[in-house]
Amino acid sequence: MDDALVQRYLRPGTLQLGAPPPLSVYVHLPWCLKKCPYCDFNSHEFKGEFKSVRLSPAEAPQDALPEARYLDALRADLEASLPLVWGRSVHSIFIGGGTPSLFSPEAIARLLSDIRLLLPLLPGCEITMEANPGTFEKDRFRAYRAAGVTRLSIGVQSFDDAKLQALGRVHDSAQARAAVAEAAACFDTFNLDLMYALPGQTAEELAQDLSTALSFAPPHLSLYHLTLEPNTVFANHPPVLPDDDVSADMLDQVVATTAAAGLQRYEVSAYARPGHRCTHNLNYWQFGDYLGLGAGAHGKLSYPHRVVRQVKWREPATYMREALAGKACSNDEEVARKALPFEFMLNTLRLRDGFEEALFQERTGLPPSAISQGLAQAQAKGLLERQMSESGVVWRPTERGFDFLSDLQALFLPPA
Ligand SMILES: C[S@@+](CC[C@H](N)C(=O)[O-])C[C@H]1O[C@@H](n2cnc3c(N)ncnc32)[C@H](O)[C@@H]1O
Ligand code: SF4
Repeated sequence: MDDALVQRYLRPGTLQLGAPPPLSVYVHLPWCLKKCPYCDFNSHEFKGEFKSVRLSPAEAPQDALPEARYLDALRADLEASLPLVWGRSVHSIFIGGGTPSLFSPEAIARLLSDIRLLLPLLPGCEITMEANPGTFEKDRFRAYRAAGVTRLSIGVQSFDDAKLQALGRVHDSAQARAAVAEAAACFDTFNLDLMYALPGQTAEELAQDLSTALSFAPPHLSLYHLTLEPNTVFANHPPVLPDDDVSADMLDQVVATTAAAGLQRYEVSAYARPGHRCTHNLNYWQFGDYLGLGAGAHGKLSYPHRVVRQVKWREPATYMREALAGKACSNDEEVARKALPFEFMLNTLRLRDGFEEALFQERTGLPPSAISQGLAQAQAKGLLERQMSESGVVWRPTERGFDFLSDLQALFLPPA
C-alpha cells in the first residue's frame, strides 16, 4: 500500500466524521463445486480435485485448489491494507464465499492466525464461516471450531430434495440435515440460510421447510426471497415462481412461524433468538466499517473527512497475482457527499429497530439537516416513526415502512 493512498484518504475535506466506527473483516473464498443457476455472487466453479488438497504447493497435485497460494495472497492483501486501519481493533470476521468449507480446517486456522498476528481482535470477536452441506466429512466442523471459528452459517436453502434439485444444489436433504445436526453439536451459535418462493413452491412445502429448520432449534435463521439476478442461468431461463401475492403471503407465513418459535425478525431477512444476532451483519447495517480481503471483496472504510469504498480484483487468478504483488485493490472511490444519506438509509432502515438519530452524523460526517426533509416526508407518509430511547431520538420504520422499504429508502436519494 503506497503512503500516497493513505495520505489521499486522510487529506482535509468537508465531512466531519466522529470516532471511527467498529471495524469488521470480510474474507472471500471464491470457489464452489458447481455454480448454482440463481447465484450472482463472485463464485467460480472449481473443476479440480478437492480431496487431495495440501497446504504446500509443492505437495499439491496440479489440479488441486490453490489453497496455499490463495492464503499467501490474502496475507499480502492484509499486509498492504494495514496502514488503512492503523490502531483499530476488529469486532467481527466473516469468511464467506463461494464455499469456504472447501478449504481445509488447517487452511482456515492459518488464515485466522495470519489475521490475529497482524490485527488486534477484540475479546469475544465473532468469527463466522459459511459452510455448504455436502462439502465436508464428519469432524470437519469440530476442526473449524478448533481453528477459531465461533459461528457457522450453513447454506441449506431447502430441505426438500425436489426443490434442491430445481435450485441446482449439489447436496440433498439428508446431507443438509446432517450438516445442521453437526453444526448444532459443535457450535454454541449458528445460522441456517433458507430461501423461499422457490420454483413451484406451495405454502405447505414452505411450512415443511420451516418446520424442519426449526426442529434443530437454530439460534439464527436467514430467510431470503429467491430473486432472479441478471446474468444468471435463471435470468435467462426463468423457472415458474410463485406470483407476488403468493410470495407476500409466504413472507407473512415465515414471520409468523419464526416468531412462534421465539425468533425475532430484527432485519429484513434475519431472524434470531435473544443474544444470537449476527454482530458482523449488524455492523454493515449500522453503517460500520469493514475491510474486504480476497477476490472481489468489497470494503468500506471511514476517515475523519471521507468514506471510502474499495473492491479487490474479482477473478481469482488475477487477484492472487495482483495481491502477491501488493496490488490487491482494483478500484477505490470516495462516497460522494450527496450519496451518503441514501447509503446510510439503505443499510440502517433494513433494521427493524431503525437507527439512533446521532448515528447519522457520526457515520456520515454530515449535519442532521441533510436528512431532515426526508425524515419529515417519511413521517408524514406513515413510513417512519420517531421515538425516544434512553440514549436519545430513534427513527424506526413503521409496519408500513418496513413493508414498502424501497419507497421509504428512495426518499433519501440524492436530488437528480
Ligand atoms: C454468499 S451466499 C452463498 C453461501 C453458500 N455458498 C451457499 O450457497 O450455501 C449466501 C446466501 O445468499 C442466498 N442467495 C444467493 N443467491 C440468492 C438469490 N438469487 N436469491 C435469494 N437468495 C440468494 C442463499 O441463501 C445463500 O445461502
Ligand atoms: S454454492 Fe453458494 S456461492 Fe456457490 S454458486 Fe451456489 S449459491 Fe453461489
